[in-house]
Amino acid sequence: IALLISVLTAFACLCLTPAGAKEVYINGIDFGFPPFGYVDKSGNPAGFDVECVNWIAKEMGFEVKHQPMDWDGIIPALNAKKIDFIASGMSATESREKIVNFTMAYYEVSQVLVVLKDRTEDLNTLLTTGKKIGSQRGTTSTKRLKDLLATEKYKFEIVEYDSTDLSIEDLKIGRIDGSAMDSSIAYELNKDGAYKTAGAFDVPTEKYGYAVRKGDDKLLNLLNQGLKKLMADPQWQVLKDKYDIH
Ligand code: ARG
Repeated sequence: IALLISVLTAFACLCLTPAGAKEVYINGIDFGFPPFGYVDKSGNPAGFDVECVNWIAKEMGFEVKHQPMDWDGIIPALNAKKIDFIASGMSATESREKIVNFTMAYYEVSQVLVVLKDRTEDLNTLLTTGKKIGSQRGTTSTKRLKDLLATEKYKFEIVEYDSTDLSIEDLKIGRIDGSAMDSSIAYELNKDGAYKTAGAFDVPTEKYGYAVRKGDDKLLNLLNQGLKKLMADPQWQVLKDKYDIH
C-alpha cells in the first residue's frame, strides 16, 4: 500500500507540475537600505538590487521572490536554507567569504560618517570627543567603528540599530551625533539637504556581491552569468540612472 501511495503521489506531482516550471529562488533582502533595497509607496519591493535581480532572473530563466530579512541574521538564514541568496548591498568581506560564496563584484563603496548639515566638526573630532555614533548592527560600518574603538586614540559611543533607516531617523532628531554607513547610501541622503558627509573612514573600499551558500555552484553560476550579462547590457546604465547610483 505504501508503495502504491508513493507511486500515486509521484504521478500526481508529475501531472501537477507544469512542464518546464521555473526554479524559484528566494532573495533575502533588508528593505531599510534605499536606494538598493526598499519598499515603494504601493508596498512592493523596489530598489537597484531588486531590479537587477529581477532582470537576471528573467534573463537566466528562473523566478525570484524577495523575502524581507533582518540584516543581522541574514547570513545564518542563508546557511539555514531559509533563503537562497542575498542581494542586498552586501560587502564581500574576507570573514564572510569563510562562510558563504560571493558572485563577481557589482559595486564599490567606502565607509563614511554622515551628520546633520549644520555640524562643523570633522570626522576625527567627532570620533575623539565622546560623541554618539550610530550604525546598523552586523554591518561593515559597525565593524569599522568597533575596530577604531579598540585603539586608544578614539573616544565615542556606538549606538547600534536594526536598520540603517532607523539610525538616520535618530540622527535627524539629534539622538545621535553621526551615523556610519556605506558611501552609496550617504550619497542618497546628501541629496535631502538635511545631511552631509563629515568624512570618509581611512579604510580600503568594499565591493558588493551577491552571496550564496557554499557549495551552491548552480545558483552561483546563474547569478554570475546573469550579472555579467546585465553589466554588459544597456539596462545596467538605465537602472543606475533610475536609482541614481554612481
Ligand atoms: N555593505 C555593508 C555590509 O555589507 C552594509 C550593508 C547593509 N545592507 C543592507 N541591506 N542593510 O555590511
